[in-house]
This record gives sequence, structure tokens and C-alpha cells, in this order.
Amino acid sequence: FETKVSETYRPIYHFTPSKGWMNDPNGLIFIDGEYHLFYQYYPDSTVWGPMHWGHAVSKDLVNWEDLSIALYPDSLGYIFSGSAVFDAENSSGLGTAENPPVVAIYTYHDMAGEKSGAKDYQKQAIAYSLDKGRTWTKYEGNPVLPNQGIKDFRDPKVSQITEADGNKRWIMTLAVLDRIQFFGSSDLKDWTLLSEFGQGIGAHGGVWECPDLLPFTTPDGKQKWVLLVSLNPGGPQNGSATQYFIGDFQNGTFTPDDTMIRWLDYGPDNYAGVTWANLPKEQNRTLFIGWMSNWLYAQRLPTKTWRSAMTIPRELSLFDVDGTLLVKSSPAEELLALRLQAISLSGKESVLPSEAVEILAEVDNEDHFQLKFSNELGEELLISKEMNLVTIDRRQAGKADFHPDFSAAHAAPMSWKAKNLRIFLDASSIELFVNEGELVLTSLLFPSTPWKKVEIGYGLDEVQLYPLKKP
Ligand code: FRU
Repeated sequence: FETKVSETYRPIYHFTPSKGWMNDPNGLIFIDGEYHLFYQYYPDSTVWGPMHWGHAVSKDLVNWEDLSIALYPDSLGYIFSGSAVFDAENSSGLGTAENPPVVAIYTYHDMAGEKSGAKDYQKQAIAYSLDKGRTWTKYEGNPVLPNQGIKDFRDPKVSQITEADGNKRWIMTLAVLDRIQFFGSSDLKDWTLLSEFGQGIGAHGGVWECPDLLPFTTPDGKQKWVLLVSLNPGGPQNGSATQYFIGDFQNGTFTPDDTMIRWLDYGPDNYAGVTWANLPKEQNRTLFIGWMSNWLYAQRLPTKTWRSAMTIPRELSLFDVDGTLLVKSSPAEELLALRLQAISLSGKESVLPSEAVEILAEVDNEDHFQLKFSNELGEELLISKEMNLVTIDRRQAGKADFHPDFSAAHAAPMSWKAKNLRIFLDASSIELFVNEGELVLTSLLFPSTPWKKVEIGYGLDEVQLYPLKKP
């Protein structure tokens, strides 16, 4: 029965590695009908260690097939976070015109260098695949971007950007301690520093990590750029979180519209998220996934054979609240495929049919609400909006003895009207989307036995529950 016990808390529809430790999503890319998900991976333990890139693929964003490890650490160091691009014109020369390469850009982290006090132990390197991302060869001329003197120098996110003059250029967005540096290249091998952004702007309670630079169209048809920057520690709920800036990106320089601090997800457990490259134009969306954890306690979570899950995939877009632009994160539409027969919840209290459910509700005119999940042991999870604060309170929601900061209520400011809720519950998490993602809170939970009941306190109408199937 050992395997059964060790599977407690294993999510039913979120991606988890079959065994071992996982953190950030890496190299997200769509190639020939497949979504690739690489991830920071240490197969030999359930705590962080020598980093590899694990690899999974999906055709529909809900069924994930875990493949063999894509990149192993080597004499240059551990393989830290990074991205992947499709080099359609073979600008790198690593493939051929007939078979252009997929190129991964990642950080080498040289542990021995770090221990010996060197300052240049993080540098950027590339690897390529000529079989659509299945197998990878490291480039022999690595590193392609040596360290420039600041120790924290990592997590390259590369995309191809068409400049005002019509020329295409590879742009690398890189996290460098307390700022972002943008580098440009025509061949993915030679990189030139273009500009810096971020010192003195935004949240700086920790190191900047895992950036992403994204073009969007505003609701009134203008082009804007969003710069995602993960921060650890210094998030709004303690520990890790992802902030973002809205502005313009021109000639290799990012200029923010304002100095406001914005958070992508107000929950404690969505970190280092980035977006998929190379989506077909007709999808016309920006697709994101995050690591559903927080460095504050990630390595102590009460799972046995594996540690960490990804969030559900989400679509990012811009929306406007009283003249302020914000990023909305909505559940990817593919998740609808998980729904089983809907159940209308009438009455105050209902039994949950499964650990994996989606709940939809309308918020009434008072703009406040409360609902509660509970189990036979009297543990409970409270969700509410009161006085412009949306809160997930996990203080009584089960196991929390593994870290003093896990037990907490997490509140998010929402000055505008909550109209509806969408909740995704799984064996060890909740993701709350208010107004289809205008406000999001993602939170891990470790109830001692599964949630059994949901109780609608007040303020919610037309509550629908969908049991979700195991993909
Ligand atoms: C973010 C991070 C990255 C780094 C990776 C190492 O969670 O610290 O900055 O590349 O994890 O595993």
C-alpha cells in the first residue's frame, strides 16, 4: 500500500513530475501540434539539487505525457531556467533551411564557481533540437553570453521581434539581480546589450527572476508591452510572486507607462510563470503556466515521492479598470474538456462528489460573498469578498506544520465589482478566478482528508459544480 500512501495530495489534473523535485516551467514552445513543457527538475530527490530540464508534451493542455530528461547538467554547471524558440530561418546555422532547429536558451549555474567565490558563475548557453524538440544537443561554443560581472544573471526569455524598420531581431530578456537587461542578436549566438530596466522601479524585496516580454492589444486597439518579472522574496503574500509592468518596447528599450506595482496573481503559490512561444497566429492568445509553489516553503511540502505541480494553463490579456490597465489571467479554454455532468447547487450545503471540481457562481449586487469547503475533521477553507478584499483563508485548512509561514489568510485588493467566480479545486490546491481572471489567487492546501462539503455562505447565486475527470 506504500504507493497509495505516497500519492496523497497528487493533483488529478495539474501537471506533476512522476517522481522527484520540480520548479520553474522552462522552454515553453508549441511545435507541430504539441505543447512542450520543460521544467526545472532534479530526478534523484524531492528537494532542489543539480538542475536538469525535465520534459513533458501535450496536444490539448490537459493530457500530459512525461518524456525523458531533455538536458542534463554538465561540466559548465547546472541547467537553470530559460526558454525555447523556433528558428524558422535557421539564423543560428544549427539546422538547415529544410529542417530548421528549435533552440533552447538557458542559464548555466556553476556550483563550484559559486563555492570558490567567483562572481561569474551564471552565464547563458544554447542547445538545439532537429527532431521537433524530442532530443537536444548542446552547442559546442557555449556559453554564448558570458557573465558581465553581476552574480545573478539568469533566466533568458528569447523572442523574435519585428522592429519599426521591419527587421526581425532576437531579443533576450534577462534577469540581472535587481533589473532586467535586454540583449539583441541576429543568430542566437552573438548577443549585444541593448538596455536596462528596473532599478528603482517596481517591487524589490528580493532578486528578480524569470522575466517575459509580451506584446498585447489593449481593449481600445493600441499596442502595449507587458514585462513579467518574478521576485523572490518580496511578494505581496510573503515569499515569491510575479509582478508586471505595462509600457512600450521600442528599439530594444522598455519604457513603463507608470510606476504602479502590479501583481499577476495575489495568491501565495504561483511563481516563475512564463508564456508559450511559437503558437499558431490563429490561436491569437498568450498562454501562460506557473510553478504552483513558493520558495518560502516549497522544499518542505508534505508530499512523498514528488514535489510541486504547475498551475492550470492560463490565457493572459489586458483589461481596463477605471482607466488603469491590468493583466487578466483566465483559465485556458481547453480545461472545459475536463468537465463532467454539471450539478446545480441549491441549498446552503452540498456534498463534494470528488477532489477535483470546478465551481461557477454569480456574485449578487451587494458585492460581497462567502463560501467554505470543509471535511469530516472540521478543517475548513474560507473564500470571501468583504470591503474590497478578496481572501482565501487557509489557516484551518489542514496540514501546515511543515513551515511556520504556511498557515495564513491571503487577501487581495479588488476595488471594482466582483461579478462571478470560477474556482478550480484539486487534491492539494485551489485557483480562484474572479471575473474570469481579473483577479486571481492561487493557493496550495493540504487537508488531512479530502474536502467533503461546500457551503455557500452568502452573496452567491446560480452556483454550478462540475466534477472534473482525470485526463
Ligand atoms: C526561480 C529560480 C530561477 C533559477 C531556477 C533554479 O525559481 O530561482 O531564477 O533559474 O529557479 O532552479
